[in-house]
Amino acid sequence: MKVPRPNAYRDSWAGDLRADQVGEEVRVAGWVHRRRDHGGLIFIDLRDRTGILQLVFRPEEAPEAHAAAERLRGEHVLSAKGELVRREEGTVNPNLPTGEVELNVRELDLLADSETPPFEISEDDPVGEELRLRYRYLDLRKERMREAIVLRHEVTRAMRRHLGDEGFLEIETPTLTRSTPEGARDFLVPSRLQPGSWYALPQSPQLFKQLLMVGGFERYFQIARCFRDEAFRADRQPEFTQLDVELSFVDEEDVIALVDPLLREVLALGGIEVDLPIDRLAYDESMLRYGTDRPDRRVGHEIVELTGAFRGSEFKVFAGVIESGGVVRGLKASGEFPRSRFDSLTEQAQSLGAGGLVWGVVEEGRALRSPVAKFLAEDEIAKALDALDAHEGDVVLIVADKPEVAAKVLGTLRLEVAGPAPEGVHDVLWVVDFPMFEWDEDAGRFDALHHPFTAPTGDLDGDPGTWRSRAYDVVLDGWELGGGSIRINTPEVQQKVFGALGIAPDEAEERFGFLLEALRYGAPPHGGIAFGLDRIVTLLAGRDSIRDVIAFPKTASGSDPLTGAPAPVDPAQLRELGLRSQSGGSA
Ligand code: AMO
Ligand code: AMP
Repeated sequence: MKVPRPNAYRDSWAGDLRADQVGEEVRVAGWVHRRRDHGGLIFIDLRDRTGILQLVFRPEEAPEAHAAAERLRGEHVLSAKGELVRREEGTVNPNLPTGEVELNVRELDLLADSETPPFEISEDDPVGEELRLRYRYLDLRKERMREAIVLRHEVTRAMRRHLGDEGFLEIETPTLTRSTPEGARDFLVPSRLQPGSWYALPQSPQLFKQLLMVGGFERYFQIARCFRDEAFRADRQPEFTQLDVELSFVDEEDVIALVDPLLREVLALGGIEVDLPIDRLAYDESMLRYGTDRPDRRVGHEIVELTGAFRGSEFKVFAGVIESGGVVRGLKASGEFPRSRFDSLTEQAQSLGAGGLVWGVVEEGRALRSPVAKFLAEDEIAKALDALDAHEGDVVLIVADKPEVAAKVLGTLRLEVAGPAPEGVHDVLWVVDFPMFEWDEDAGRFDALHHPFTAPTGDLDGDPGTWRSRAYDVVLDGWELGGGSIRINTPEVQQKVFGALGIAPDEAEERFGFLLEALRYGAPPHGGIAFGLDRIVTLLAGRDSIRDVIAFPKTASGSDPLTGAPAPVDPAQLRELGLRSQSGGSA
């Protein structure tokens, strides 16, 4: 890093000092990372943002500094001045960039004390996440966290530079706004000046970026905070960050051509090499072969269609499902399969909605050992094993159900039996050609697979179940990194989509009238994409959870143990807002 402006605290970064500066007088500042006493000498590992430097206090050379150093404990804050010297033979630390040198301290200023931290900063002890988040400012001092936050900065910097060079303008959109549906619940904020009215926090800047296209900006991006009140998981937070992009006068190929090199540049920051053009896979094929629209193709065990092999079977389960329009699909596995593993896989299949799971072990002569083998004809077994490419010693797992259920169950079992992906191998792809809607059985209506502003294709006067959409997703190692689409740019088509979603014209006018109106004033053809920044950094940093790359994340239950948010508020504040808490939640 550029050397700091010399002041009373320091003139050098601790982690940047090297052997070529031996003999120089330097001043450094930071935290006590570790302390060791050795026959009268005191060694302090001093930590600042750039790294670690060893300080030595010698009682005979600098008795005052040495006496002051007696008081130093972990995480105390200090400034120290002295001569940079070469470490003695045999004490060089090759694991430390500053490992050849140490600072012979003459002057020590203790700047702040620290209580004993609730966990070690210098060791990567397994500490409960609740405790880490309660003392996040200490957790952030760990090298692991610092690396992740620095990487996050590098990623956003590369994005800004890349898009800036392509003529994109960074434009902010509001946080206090109206509902921008992306399929989650809204976070609501009551209005004090208009009692009874509410702002919604945006689930994404979707509608505003479209309005910016109507506004003629043509190329927009934003590193935008989004808010979604949904079940939190390792890859989800209630507030998260998107790289949000929108362009005018473009089609799908233009968006992909923009994103491919951007992604290559960004992923390279984590050492992930991407060959261009990035591979594409059609949604239907992805669902068939991997049971999901975010496939991880690093592990094999593809799902295989077996409906043909079992058509007209004597086995009632299969025949019944096929007759009612369902499918039979399976996958091959290998490895240790005691009976208990089959039982737990069957339970898992059932919990995901399958009627059951047929399992079998291929034995000598390609005979199938399975509880249902007696119901299956020899040629059915032969056809199925051929399709699965299963041989002696392999295991087969078969599900009969509606295509969506078979996909979901086998997609999950596939990852379950496949084991971990090989180290250092990555899989990035575009998933394209999505259906516009999926049928929500419980609600008895269509849901948009992306969002209702995505341009549909197909016979728009026919069954919406047959419409496709001009949407695309980017997937890395089984994580959905980003998604987008070409948008609707006429009010007529937008109304049609609202209609298909069961949103009546007056409701559409009430909720999205401003968009429909804008589309009547010369909306250019436009489209774009948004990436989950937290997810990208998580994968690049090789972490398991996006919480590890967010400075101040929420726990799985949506709370922040550090500040205590969410918290009750003062009754007076509620009164001012015209609200009353029913759960007794006021202070
Ligand atoms: P989508 O809803 O697919 O699209 O979101 C885009 C990307 O944002 C990330 N993401 C999340 N990351 C962390 N926590 C969450 N709760 C969360 N939800 C989503 C994912 C996802 O791929 N407006 C559209 C984009 C567009 O059409 O241009 C949108 O928001 O990585
Ligand atoms: P049942 O007729 O329900 O006793 O099921 C007979 C066998 O078929 C059991 O091993 C079940 O686990 C299995 N089975 C039941 N329904 C399905 C299904 N939809 N797909 C695959 N296997 C099933």
